[in-house]
Amino acid sequence: MSTPTFIFSFLLLLQLLFASLTAAADGSWQLLQKSIGISAMHMQLLRNDRVIMFDRTDFGPSNLSLPGGKCRNDPTDTALKVDCTAHSVEYDVLANKFRALTVQTDVWCSSGSIMPDGNLVQTGGFNDGERRVRVFSPCRTCDWNEIPNGLAAKRWYASNHLLPDGRQIVETEKTKLLLLKLNLIIYNVNEHTFI
Ligand SMILES: *[C@@H]1O[C@H](CO)[C@@H](O)[C@H](O)[C@H]1NC(C)=O
Repeated sequence: MSTPTFIFSFLLLLQLLFASLTAAADGSWQLLQKSIGISAMHMQLLRNDRVIMFDRTDFGPSNLSLPGGKCRNDPTDTALKVDCTAHSVEYDVLANKFRALTVQTDVWCSSGSIMPDGNLVQTGGFNDGERRVRVFSPCRTCDWNEIPNGLAAKRWYASNHLLPDGRQIVETEKTKLLLLKLNLIIYNVNEHTFI
């Protein structure tokens, strides 16, 4: 390759590189909905390109009414015993539309994971939600299905992981300590030190 051809090729390569870098850096935010009526404290994309969003239930009403005049009656709720607003929505990315869902118990500091069948399994939370298991199946008309006392023990600030056999482990502080010990690291809870 002669020197001018080499320089030309090199410049062309640089230009191509920069062009693609600039294109990648050129992303921008676009406001698709002024408000969806709830806060998206948790968000999960499902395999049908819909995003499930939900927020705690003990913070008063949201700005989105439940459909069909439905209300949530919960004598143990710390803010509203009767709440006719939604705290969860399903957002359809392609259509840019959302619909209200009915989460029944407090999902504050709950955790979850997608199962191999595509269902979202969300567990635990606060107050009335601490032993709940909530399942959301990806379908156009589906809503949350809640299993009272689905967890044998309460879970708050837990982490969920899908195991190779398709089960889900819901671990909280104590389990995490145990795992650390298994890795031969001993964590002193009182002194916050590792041995
Ligand atoms: C509800 O509407 C009020 C008044 O417009 C606004 O201040 C608040 O942030 C909204 N809350 C949510 C969760 O959208």
